[in-house]
Amino acid sequence: MNNPVRAVLQHLESARRAGIEQLPAIPHLEPVVREPAAPVLPTAPATPTAPATPTAPATVRRPAPAKPPTPTEILPMPLTGEPAADLQTLQGEVARCELCTELCTTRTQTVFGVGSPRARLIFMGEAPGADEDRQGEPFVGRAGKLLTKIIEAMTLKREDVYILNTLKCRPPNNRNPAPEEVENCRPFFERQLDILQPEFICCLGAIAAQGLLNTTTTIGRLRGKFHDYRGIRVLATYHPAYLLRNPSAKAHVWDDMQILMRELGIPLPKDD
Ligand code: URA
Repeated sequence: MNNPVRAVLQHLESARRAGIEQLPAIPHLEPVVREPAAPVLPTAPATPTAPATPTAPATVRRPAPAKPPTPTEILPMPLTGEPAADLQTLQGEVARCELCTELCTTRTQTVFGVGSPRARLIFMGEAPGADEDRQGEPFVGRAGKLLTKIIEAMTLKREDVYILNTLKCRPPNNRNPAPEEVENCRPFFERQLDILQPEFICCLGAIAAQGLLNTTTTIGRLRGKFHDYRGIRVLATYHPAYLLRNPSAKAHVWDDMQILMRELGIPLPKDD
């Protein structure tokens, strides 16, 4: 049977004879790639004097596989202009994301962000760890507890700021996020920041700072001064997990936090 149309018609006819009146629609059919029986691609350009040459073997080009849709293409988000509602909508999109095959199959849940939707200051980390993956909230493990202490040392509370990560899924075994994973998550954190419109972003560690600022400059060189992200002032500092391993770097982080406090108009402790 090499006539596919006749084959389908015969199949339908035998189904009808068997009493089947309707066939269900089959979702997600692969696009039909028609492969012509005879080669349709031109052979080497024929010149009038060229002897008849055998045609090249038939090569039928399949259409290039479609690029996976970006998160924006999957679901255009209707923005209301109300940060809390828009964050909730975006959070739903993030929860459905399957762009990183490994991360979406190993995660317990996505970890979106927490805090005040109207915060002036945002802390941006790297990616959820095991505790965050379990609880669905950023910075709740050991590094998170240190971040909370840092926020409190600034005379703020966690609820006063907003905390998010560059990646919304936990990389297995706490490995570093792969560059393509950061790119897959970029539309999410960019839209999250766009909704939040903070005055200041504090990037915690190299992954967040380099990802947000699109740079390869080291965290040691980035820290201690402001950078610009779409008109938002960005300060980078060491990640709390780094401080747990290198307590002597805490002094640098405290210097950085005081830069932020000054700009936020928060009084500095007397002896600083
Ligand atoms: N480290 C991060 O960068 N983010 C978290 O949420 C926890 C640890």
